[in-house]
Amino acid sequence: MKHFAEQIQKLRDEINEHNYLYYVLDAPKVPDAEYDRLFHELRDLEQEHPELIAPDSPTQRVGIKPAGHFAEIKHYIPMLSLDNAFDDSDIINFNKRIQDKLEIAQDIKFCCEPKLDGLAVNLCYENGYLKWAATRGDGFLGEDITQNIRAIKSVPLKLRGENFPKLIEIRGEVFLCKKEFDKINSEADKTGGKTFANPRNAAAGSLRQLDPQVTASRNLSIYFYGIGQIEKFPIPNSHHEVLEQLKKWGFPVNPEIKLVNNYHGCLDYYNTILNKRNKLAYEIDGVVYKVDDLLQQRELGFVSRAPRWAIAHKFPAHEEMTELLDVDFQVGRTGVLTPVARLKPVNVSGVMVSNATLHNMDEITRKDIQIGDWVIIRRAGDVIPEIVSVILDKRKNTHKIKMPHKCPVCDAPVERIEGQAAYRCSGGLTCRAQLIEGIKHFASRRAMDINGLGDKLVEQFVAEGLIKSVADLYDLEVSQLVNLERLAEKSAENLISALEKSKSTTLGRFIFALGIRDVGETTANLLAKNIGDIHKLFTVSEEDLQSITDIGPVVAKHISDFFSQSKHQKLIERLI
Ligand code: IVH
Repeated sequence: MKHFAEQIQKLRDEINEHNYLYYVLDAPKVPDAEYDRLFHELRDLEQEHPELIAPDSPTQRVGIKPAGHFAEIKHYIPMLSLDNAFDDSDIINFNKRIQDKLEIAQDIKFCCEPKLDGLAVNLCYENGYLKWAATRGDGFLGEDITQNIRAIKSVPLKLRGENFPKLIEIRGEVFLCKKEFDKINSEADKTGGKTFANPRNAAAGSLRQLDPQVTASRNLSIYFYGIGQIEKFPIPNSHHEVLEQLKKWGFPVNPEIKLVNNYHGCLDYYNTILNKRNKLAYEIDGVVYKVDDLLQQRELGFVSRAPRWAIAHKFPAHEEMTELLDVDFQVGRTGVLTPVARLKPVNVSGVMVSNATLHNMDEITRKDIQIGDWVIIRRAGDVIPEIVSVILDKRKNTHKIKMPHKCPVCDAPVERIEGQAAYRCSGGLTCRAQLIEGIKHFASRRAMDINGLGDKLVEQFVAEGLIKSVADLYDLEVSQLVNLERLAEKSAENLISALEKSKSTTLGRFIFALGIRDVGETTANLLAKNIGDIHKLFTVSEEDLQSITDIGPVVAKHISDFFSQSKHQKLIERLI
């Protein structure tokens, strides 16, 4: 028995070490397969000796019994909130208040931290083991989310090292990376499940799950930024040393945290992080400055529910509200009509927004959006602005959004695409919008890469009747182009030589440029590699196409439909 106990303990230590390297330090030392092997070995051993299972075993992260509700937990030391600052003068005043209260003129050192947009949690460790975890709640009483916190793999179930307090509360923020957020939402979209408005809501929804299995499937992250109660342990002199200690115990701490010598350093930090904001893997809504010296912190104390020694310096918000003035329908390359919201212009995180995508009619129905509504707009990073939700309380005199029966560009009938939320203009390339989008795609960098043929020029060429298909591009002459408004002689000559240059390309790019439905770069390259000759595609069967790995029945049908049409064959011959 002793032998098994030792073997199990050794495996646990080894797996915990790999967990730490992987989830906390982002620096795994063994391949996933080796980790899985160790994990299975431990699980099998534990199954054979259930009396040896311990709650801190890595196999026991996700408990099975979903409770009926969350029990209440009282924080040893209340969890406070932060005062907000919105501009430099607020920070200058903050610094002055501190110096006045401490009666000193010297610079104050601050620890600067990103302000994560997630949920505050409090974890209690007793004798080095995770005892419970709670949400912030009202600051005094939180909800018992121990099972869910255990499901986050970067949370140590047991502190690393030998030296730790008898009891300690550790505070941090649970959040979802932007990528995970997109993944959860696109999966929910596919299965008709509930989508979340932003990563914060998604993190909250994932953490406050009665079934910890669901939490475990959501890949939540956590960074720790402070402590509450601490018993029988020497407290360091500064906040940054507390964070160093947390790292030693195995807690993930945000690597962007920086110590500065005075409030000027805070303002520099603000700008640095604001510039990085879109590149970070997670969302932040500002930065936090904390007086670094813990003696100074103690002297400063609190006003009502917020410390005098810390402040949140907020970034411009990603969400604003405005009025939905109208909805237009844009016709894309494949004829699909996309509803586009025309908004009363509003500044969202530094950029004026007057349009937002509405994706499709199902989305409009699901969000119950009507023309005239007040809506919440979200613009995060470089993504296209979106309507998050409608403010129903403000609704009056609105009217429903209807899909037009005729294409707004060419008047051809609009048809619903079977089995999809999408509608399509039936005009094909006789529809000017589809023609223009098709030519833009053909000329684009990843397709034929025709340098200098931008969107505006394509629109102009089509409007002036110079081209009616992509093949017409290659009949263009300098003399025709120089008469156009937008083109000087030199640019016209450059364009003609760019067209000439585009003629030597790869088969994969050429196939991609044709703009066949559902044929992206990858599929186009697969076709080039497996079929080899464009003429063979004219007669290839759906079965043959499906025998190519990664080409399914739907795509195979689109490909064979496209190449079997004589108008497409003629176009290809002309291009060749
Ligand atoms: S310190 C007394 N540090 O912001 C100190 N909070 O508005 C209280 N937050 O409830 C918290 N990142 O959820 C602190 N680096 C950070 C933070 C942070 C995010 C959240 C936390 C808190 C809220 C206060």
